[in-house]
Amino acid sequence: MTPRVLTTTEEVREALAGPGRVGLVPTMGYLHDGHAALIRQARAACDVVVVSVFVNPRQFGVNEDLGRYPRDLDRDLAVAGAAGADLLFHPEVTTMYPDGYATTVTVSGVSGPPEGHARPGHFDGVSTVVLKLLNIVQPERAYFGEKDWQQLAVVRRMVRDLNVPVRVVGVPTVRAASGLALSSRNSYLTPEQQERAVVLSRALWAVQEAAAAGERDTARLVQAGLEVLARDPEVRPDYLTVVDSDMRERERVENDPMTRVLVAARMFGVRLIDNVPLWAEERWTGGEDA
Ligand code: PAJ
Repeated sequence: MTPRVLTTTEEVREALAGPGRVGLVPTMGYLHDGHAALIRQARAACDVVVVSVFVNPRQFGVNEDLGRYPRDLDRDLAVAGAAGADLLFHPEVTTMYPDGYATTVTVSGVSGPPEGHARPGHFDGVSTVVLKLLNIVQPERAYFGEKDWQQLAVVRRMVRDLNVPVRVVGVPTVRAASGLALSSRNSYLTPEQQERAVVLSRALWAVQEAAAAGERDTARLVQAGLEVLARDPEVRPDYLTVVDSDMRERERVENDPMTRVLVAARMFGVRLIDNVPLWAEERWTGGEDA
């Protein structure tokens, strides 16, 4: 079924006036199988599933891709509907940020390095819009992808700190058969370039392998990943790091399931990010279907 499109906060309140558990999946649209996984998980646990599609200008830096960010509402309706969404909230920028709008939510600590350092102000934009969406929809559960690992940590911190009555659910990253993490920004790349971008995943796997082989020194683990990235001259690494649950890089890694390997790099003029757990029972080898 095609979800009903709502554009104002009043429409959302009316549509959600009845009983039932509400699930929210916040997105910036151009939906793919990664978003669909979030929506399906919401469908399985909730009575009403709301997907928001809003390209949030406040989380883009001045030299970033806000102007060319892909948008296609028909595609979003088809993907969201097929995955089980009931409602699609698609507000205008002026609905979210009317004249006189003056409030920003800043989460400190976990919103710093690596991603918040590379994109100053980005997580202020994210936490502000996510809190607004949570207040508008007032869901019992909200779904976020592990693909944006630090974003998930920032949202969890905000929800805890501000006593937001919602359960934050993290959903594992959906990958293409090649291993490339699905992303709306992959649409900037040709199929051949997407194939080349698998080097990011390979770098992450190399770090996992080094850890599995006994390496505990963070600098050496990072080096193992950077060596893989260096093999492709097209890759301009932004960072590759191994962090704990507070996004801190320590000298030696712990045997903690929350330890994560994060990478960001520019390829063919497009900035891509990905991450994996350092300790994975099954390491991705590519070739499987996502
Ligand atoms: P967007 O990039 O559209 O992603 C929306 C949600 O889908 C995020 O929680 C993201 O982590 C998740 N997601 C994206 N690709 C995924 C993949 N391959 N596998 C699993 N989940 C994936 O993230 C944002 O939008 C925005 O910052 C938002 C939270 C909506 C605030 O504006």
